[in-house]
Amino acid sequence: MTEMTCIEDLRRLARKRVPRMFYDYVDGGSWTESTYRANEADFQQLHFRQRVACDISQRSTATTMVGQAVSMPVAIAPTGLTGMQHADGEILAARAAKNAGIPFTLSTMSVCSIEAVAQATQRHPFWFQLYVTRDRSFVERLIERARDANCSALVVTMDLQVFGQRHKDKKNGLSLPPKPTLRNLVNLATKPRWCLNMLRTSNRQFGNIVGHATGVDSIKSLTQWTQEQFDPRLSWQDVAWIKKRWGGPLIVKGILDPDDARLAVETGADAIIVSNHGGRQLDGAPSSISALPAIVDAVGKQTEIHFDGGVRSGQDVLKAIALGARGTYIGRAMMYGLGAQGERGVSTALEIIRNELDLSMAFCGRTDVRQVDRGILLPRQ
Ligand code: GLV
Repeated sequence: MTEMTCIEDLRRLARKRVPRMFYDYVDGGSWTESTYRANEADFQQLHFRQRVACDISQRSTATTMVGQAVSMPVAIAPTGLTGMQHADGEILAARAAKNAGIPFTLSTMSVCSIEAVAQATQRHPFWFQLYVTRDRSFVERLIERARDANCSALVVTMDLQVFGQRHKDKKNGLSLPPKPTLRNLVNLATKPRWCLNMLRTSNRQFGNIVGHATGVDSIKSLTQWTQEQFDPRLSWQDVAWIKKRWGGPLIVKGILDPDDARLAVETGADAIIVSNHGGRQLDGAPSSISALPAIVDAVGKQTEIHFDGGVRSGQDVLKAIALGARGTYIGRAMMYGLGAQGERGVSTALEIIRNELDLSMAFCGRTDVRQVDRGILLPRQ
């Protein structure tokens, strides 16, 4: 097999190996997908300032995110249905993250449960992402479960209380498990490796929810669960309540506006994630990278700013760090690695990004990622 040398190689292989409806769930955005495309495209508008003769022999990409050591400023983003890109996907991605020395964030909407991931990674700390549901006792139990599983940060997502329609998912009839329609069966027949792995695991449902939320024995789809259970009344008081209940580092995800960033800081966020949910929610919102500078200017001195959206290379990571992010998250880049080659594919994605980050930093004449600033970018024309 040809060597995987960039995230695009992994994406292409994942497209061949993952059943259509689950691949499309990853490689897509809401409505016209304009924000989804802008997330990647807007990185190309930024240009590095190449410097030479700076003694770049000793370099380090190590830093911290919410006070925790990371080998590079990259965490794995919380992504729904990770365990449908590859059997036991969350466990495999958590192991790859552990080996790479970076945080893994488990989504509420994961297939493998909090407990399954903790057990399979020998209780190595990971981060847990929380959605606020109408049933607050379910939220309380999720927080307790995350604590019991040794999670070391909680990520509260603020931008998915209503669901941005994704045409592909609707047309594909995305559901868990896939409905046995002729179209699905024909497609599954072309993915024997995926099917075999899936038959070997018992992790095939929304593991954090089924059997845990009162009265939920099965969930057909993410859309259905969101519409019925996510609380559209979500407010900053809820975030304050979660912070108190959790007691550990709290990361607030889904911030695109400086005013919301200020409110998150007032509420006690230890970090915020500048994010438009990978272009999957409000189509027509700005790309994450174009929203970042104003948020850094507004609250960068008071809180740690993390970044998510469109990161497909170490160069993208470096640009976000240059604009003031402390750390970045990869969602799709991880999912493509996973769909392509399981744990090995996620490790490959991380190594690709690490290598691109390290070399690009060196080309800019810098040796320590903690000292990267706007000075490595050319002023915008
Ligand atoms: C869930 O977070 C999704 O974007 O599908």
